[in-house]
Amino acid sequence: MGFLQRLFFTVIAFSSITILAQSDDGIEAEIHSLLSKMTIEEKIGQTSLRGTSSRVDGSLSDELKSAVREGRIGAFLNVMNTDYVKELQKIAVEESPNKIPLLFGRDVIHGFKTIFPIPLGIAATWNKDVAKSGARISALEASSVGIRWTFAPMLDISRDARWGRIAESPGEDPFLASVLAKAYIEGFQGEDLKSSTSMAASIKHFIGYGAAIGGRDYNTVIIHNALLHNVYLPPFKTAIDAGALTLMTAFNEINGIPATGNKFLLKDLLRDELGFNGFIVSDWASVTEMIAHGYARDYEHAAELSIKSGMDMEMSTHAYENSIQKLMDKNLISEKELDFLVANILRVKLKMGLFEKPSFPSNEQNVFYKTEYLEAAKNAAIESFVLLKNEDVLPLSSNQTFAVIGPLADAPHEQLGTWTFDGDKEKTITPVDAFQNSSIDFMFAQGLTYSRDKSTELFEEAISAAENSDVILFFGGEESILSGEAHSRANIDLPGAQEELISKLAETGKPIVLVIMAGRPISIMNIIDKVDAVLMAWHPGTMGGPALFDVLAGISEPGGRLPVTWPKDGAQSPIYYNHKNTGRPADQFNYTNIDDIPIGAWQSSIGNRSHYLDLGYKPHFPFGYGLTYTDFEYSDISISSKSIQVNESVEISAKVKNIGSRKGREVVQLYVQDVVASITRPVKELKGFEIITLNPGEEKTIKFTINPKDLSFVTFNDERVLEPGKFNVWIGPNSSSGINSSFELK
Ligand code: NOJ
Repeated sequence: MGFLQRLFFTVIAFSSITILAQSDDGIEAEIHSLLSKMTIEEKIGQTSLRGTSSRVDGSLSDELKSAVREGRIGAFLNVMNTDYVKELQKIAVEESPNKIPLLFGRDVIHGFKTIFPIPLGIAATWNKDVAKSGARISALEASSVGIRWTFAPMLDISRDARWGRIAESPGEDPFLASVLAKAYIEGFQGEDLKSSTSMAASIKHFIGYGAAIGGRDYNTVIIHNALLHNVYLPPFKTAIDAGALTLMTAFNEINGIPATGNKFLLKDLLRDELGFNGFIVSDWASVTEMIAHGYARDYEHAAELSIKSGMDMEMSTHAYENSIQKLMDKNLISEKELDFLVANILRVKLKMGLFEKPSFPSNEQNVFYKTEYLEAAKNAAIESFVLLKNEDVLPLSSNQTFAVIGPLADAPHEQLGTWTFDGDKEKTITPVDAFQNSSIDFMFAQGLTYSRDKSTELFEEAISAAENSDVILFFGGEESILSGEAHSRANIDLPGAQEELISKLAETGKPIVLVIMAGRPISIMNIIDKVDAVLMAWHPGTMGGPALFDVLAGISEPGGRLPVTWPKDGAQSPIYYNHKNTGRPADQFNYTNIDDIPIGAWQSSIGNRSHYLDLGYKPHFPFGYGLTYTDFEYSDISISSKSIQVNESVEISAKVKNIGSRKGREVVQLYVQDVVASITRPVKELKGFEIITLNPGEEKTIKFTINPKDLSFVTFNDERVLEPGKFNVWIGPNSSSGINSSFELK
C-alpha cells in the first residue's frame, strides 16, 4: 500500500463556510447596537448564570430582583416556580437598562414530566425518530413553564460501564451517536427557534468526559488529537452542523488542561474548526474548580483563563461576576474580549426571538402526560428493550401463571432513572401495575425491597410464590441513584442479595425471566445460566410497566440493540468493539483459562496474547447485539465494484430474510475496516445501519453506499486523509457477526 494519493480535506476551509452560512446580518447588526449601549456591568451580567433563584421562605429575594433590574444576570437554572419565572422575566424586559430577556434553563434530559427511557436506552432503539420525538415532547412540556433551554443532549462517547454517566450517554459509537445527536437537536429546538416551544439545546460535555480514567467521574482524561477527532468529536460536529445553539464544557482536564479553560478546545477546535457560533456555558462550578485542578491560582485567575479561552457564561459560581472588572482594570482582559462572550450569548437570545417574545410560562392547561406523549414514551421503551437471552420462554403464554418478584417490579421512582427531577412517580406505571391492569394470573412477592437490600427476610414469600406459579418474572437491576453523575461503580453486578435470591428461585426448577432495569450494562456472569431469558430494560421511564408487559406477553417485540459493548465484569472495562487489533490479538487458539493452566507451566506456554487469564478476551455481548422473537438470515453480500477511485463511492448490499414465524424488526448493520493505514485503524467501525420490519418468509435487499469521506480519518497532524488500500466490509446483525466482502481503494 502506498500513501501517494492521500487526499487532504482542508478542515479550516469547511468551517469558514459554516460560519458564513450561519451568519445573519440583521442579528449581527442588532448585537453590535446592543453592545454599543450596554455598560460593562450589564455585559458582565449577561455572562452570569445563576443557580438559585429563591429564598427558603418562598419569596424572591430583593437582592435577586435588584440584580435582574440592574442587568446583572443573563440566565437562570432551576427556577421551577412559574410565578418567579414571570416576575423575573418581567423585571428583565421592562425595567433592566437594555431590556435584555432572561433565559431559563434546566436539565430536561429524557423527558420533563413524561419520562422517556434514559438516553442509553434511547440509544438502544437506534431510532432517530424515537430520539427526536422524545426531545420534542420534552420541549413541549418544559417550555410551558418557561424553560427554553435544556442541558442536553449529552454526547460523550462512553466506553466504560463503570462510569455512572454512561446512563446519560449515546453509547460507545461515534456513528450511532451522531445520528442521535442530530435527532435530539431537531427535537429539542424544533423547526422554528422563535416558537415558544423551541428549547435551546446544550450539547455537552466538551469534551472527553466519558474517557475518565477508570470510569471514575470527573477523572483525568488523556486523548490524543487523532482519537479526539475520530471518536469523540463526530457527534458534537454533527450537532453543531444541525444548529445546536449552546454547548457546555466538561469538568475534566484533557491532556493536562481543564476543558473549561482550554483555548485549544474552545477556540481552535470549537470556534475555528467546527464553526460553532452559539454560546458556551461552563459546567456547574467548573470555572472555579480549575483551582483544585491545579491550573488556576484563584477565582480571578480562573476567570481570566476561561475568558481567554472564549468561555462565555459561568454556571453557578461568581468568578466572572466578581473578577471581570478587576481583570479589565489590570489590562488582563480587554472590553473586546468581553464583547466576544456577550455577543455569543445575545446571538442565541436573538435567534430564539426572545427580544420580541420573551419566554413566559404559558397558562395552558393539560400540557403534561398527554395520551400521545405517553404512547410515544411507551413505544420508545419497547424499542429500547434488548433481549440478551431467550431459551424458549418468551413471549409468555397467557394460560400460564406468573410469580412477579424483585426490587424493581413495583418501584415507580426507580424506573424513571437518573435526571428526572420533574417526572411524578404517581404517574409512573410499573410492571406490577401493568399486570394488575390485565387479566393475567399473577402473584407479586417482592423478595427484596430495594436493589441494594441484603436482607433475606422476604425470600420465603418469594420462593413460595415461585413454587405456586408456572414462570418466574424477576425484575431486578439498580435503583436510579446508582447511575448518573458521581455514581460510578467498580463492581457492576446486581447489587444487594439479588443474585442470591435468583439462585434460590432457580432451585424451584421454574423458568426464570430476568428483566434488568439499570443505568448501565450489568455483570450477569454468575447468574446467566440460572435464568432462561434476560431482557435489558434500562430505566424505562413513565411507561416502563405497560411497555414491559406488551413485550413479555408478545404483543410487541423487544426492538433494542446494544449501543455499548456488554462486559462480563466491571474489571473488563473499558471495552468497546471498535478497538485496535494490537500486535498480538487474542484468539481461541492462544487462550488458556486461569483454571486450566498446568501447575509449573512454562512462561510462554499459555499464549502471549492480549487477554485476561480469568475473563478471556470477549465481552459478554457485543455492541449492536439483540435477539428478536423471530430469526433473520443474511445472504448474498454483493459489492458494486471491487476497486474504486478516491472520488468514487461503492455500494454494498445483502439480502436479509425473516426465517422465523413472527413478524420482526431487524437493525441491519454495516461495518468497515481499513486494513492498513498510516496510523492504525479500529478492527471495525459502524458506517451505516437500517431498521427494517419483515413478515415471516419475507426477504429484502439492503443497500448501503460508502462515500470516500466515510473512509477518511484524521491523523496526528490534524489532517483528514483518505488512504488507498484494502477495506473489509461486513453486513450483519451486530458487531461480531455478519457476512463480509472487501474492496480496494486505488
Ligand atoms: C452538572 C452536570 O455535569 C451537567 O451535565 C448539568 O447539566 C449541570 N450540573 C446542571 O445541572
